[in-house]
Amino acid sequence: MFSLFLSRKHVPFGVFLFAMDYRIVSADEAARLIHHGDVVGFSGFTAAGCPKEVPSAIARRAEQLHAQGEPFRISVITGASSGDAMDGALARADAVALRLPYQNVADMRKAINEGRVNYTDLHLSEVAQQLRYGFLPRPRVAIVEASSITSRGEIVPTYGVGILPTICQLAETIIVELNVAVPEALRGLHDIAELADPPHRREIPIYTPSERIGRDCVRVNPSKIACVVVTDRTTEVAAFHETDEVTARIAQNVATFLENEMHNGRIPQQFLPVQSGVGNIANAILKDLGNSPIVPPFEMYTEVIQDSVIDLIKWGRIRIASGSSLTCSPKKIEEILASLEFFRPRLVLRPTEYSNSPEVIRRLGIISINTALEADLSGAVNSSHVLGRRMMNGIGGSCDFTRNAYLSIFTTPSTAKGGAVSCIVPMVSHQDHSEHSVKVLVTEYGVADLRGLSPRQRAERIISHCAHPDYRPLLHDYLARCPKGHTPFDLAHCFDFHQAFATQGDMRKV
Ligand code: COA
Repeated sequence: MFSLFLSRKHVPFGVFLFAMDYRIVSADEAARLIHHGDVVGFSGFTAAGCPKEVPSAIARRAEQLHAQGEPFRISVITGASSGDAMDGALARADAVALRLPYQNVADMRKAINEGRVNYTDLHLSEVAQQLRYGFLPRPRVAIVEASSITSRGEIVPTYGVGILPTICQLAETIIVELNVAVPEALRGLHDIAELADPPHRREIPIYTPSERIGRDCVRVNPSKIACVVVTDRTTEVAAFHETDEVTARIAQNVATFLENEMHNGRIPQQFLPVQSGVGNIANAILKDLGNSPIVPPFEMYTEVIQDSVIDLIKWGRIRIASGSSLTCSPKKIEEILASLEFFRPRLVLRPTEYSNSPEVIRRLGIISINTALEADLSGAVNSSHVLGRRMMNGIGGSCDFTRNAYLSIFTTPSTAKGGAVSCIVPMVSHQDHSEHSVKVLVTEYGVADLRGLSPRQRAERIISHCAHPDYRPLLHDYLARCPKGHTPFDLAHCFDFHQAFATQGDMRKV
């Protein structure tokens, strides 16, 4: 069998399509392969690497069938969040029965919180193995975005990997969305392997973030590839906002804290690999670490590689970044593609069970930096639920990293909703990270280093170092009223702040 690469830059496009062993179809035709009740696995991680045309076509098909009075809802399984072309379109079309393991698109969030979609929020490192173990519904169809595909069944992902190898292995049918806006030369950026399951699993031989242990593509039985849909849609990742004052102060506090940790010998002089969450705070923190005169050029072992990482690689401040996706704005993607040979040895894209592996995270000694919605006086963190009830996004990989990190840091602005919400509360309304996992808490007011402290000491430190001044007396009042015991905790009043917000719109009215 020949192994022709499909690419668009060097050879007239029609030649490829002609030479391919696969059926080229429209997105609408591919969508007809999906049936009501199907479990569908999608490639990608964040909006990076997600198929776009076929999910939108599935949404159109759902709307048509619904208009004819016919049911059409599917289970949607991904590596992490996706983009509006997938989660947004499918949610608006009421085409989703079950969604897992993570999402962050407004219309999907709305559907989940209105009870129209069953949502299962999972540790991202576990999704592939839970699929293989049979703990989760087995995907019948895998829909994957590729930068190239060969007639031997070699699929090269685009900017995100997620659970791509696992869904391709488990599915009966694979639909490939070949994105011709992504150059074939991307091949070599990925490091694709799949874990054996117990009792046959061995150690993951990754000893440094740059270590490559797999192949540069996913290999599937070509007969499983039902069709190829060709697209040239660019990535849906948005650019970042300008850093505001609160975000800048949080970032500065994190950078100063880490510099002091080096100074005090608790972080080695060569530094340790960093994981950082998603969003503006994470982006600002990385910039500050990059500008630090004390922190040496460092490495990243993370799940999402954002815009700031690319700049820091260019400036020689980050030596290598390993993750599951290049969640970069179109402008940054262009910069990477323009200097691909420079970036190739400095970027590795892995399946999530490797990028988020607890074993590797513990071995490498990761400094994890993630964002909380709220934290409580014990140091426990809620990353996912507003007022304990409304799903924001999910835990994502935050627990994978936090629980296993060398040093786990959570950041949050001290208040939200114009000051009506304190992000430091007596007790979190939903707990994702317990006080046993959270070592350091940072707001714009300072850093609460919780290591080695008793519960009462932790509470005092969090109030004095992190809480907004408006809320400090209220939190002290709560603490003073707690019945005697090892842990300051008042069963009758621990949710009074939340209650005040729910009934009076302001936690200061507690
Ligand atoms: N109570 C109520 N609402 C709150 C709140 C609180 N304690 N804290 C924040 N909010 C609101 C904000 O006001 C904002 O509302 P708006 O959209 O109406 O303006 C919204 O929640 C988002 O807040 P924001 O500060 O913009 O959040 P963010 O973009 O920094 O994201 C998380 C914060 C926690 C939602 C996000 O980091 C996340 O999903 N984390 C979990 C997954 C994760 O950590 N992934 C990376 C791991 S590798």
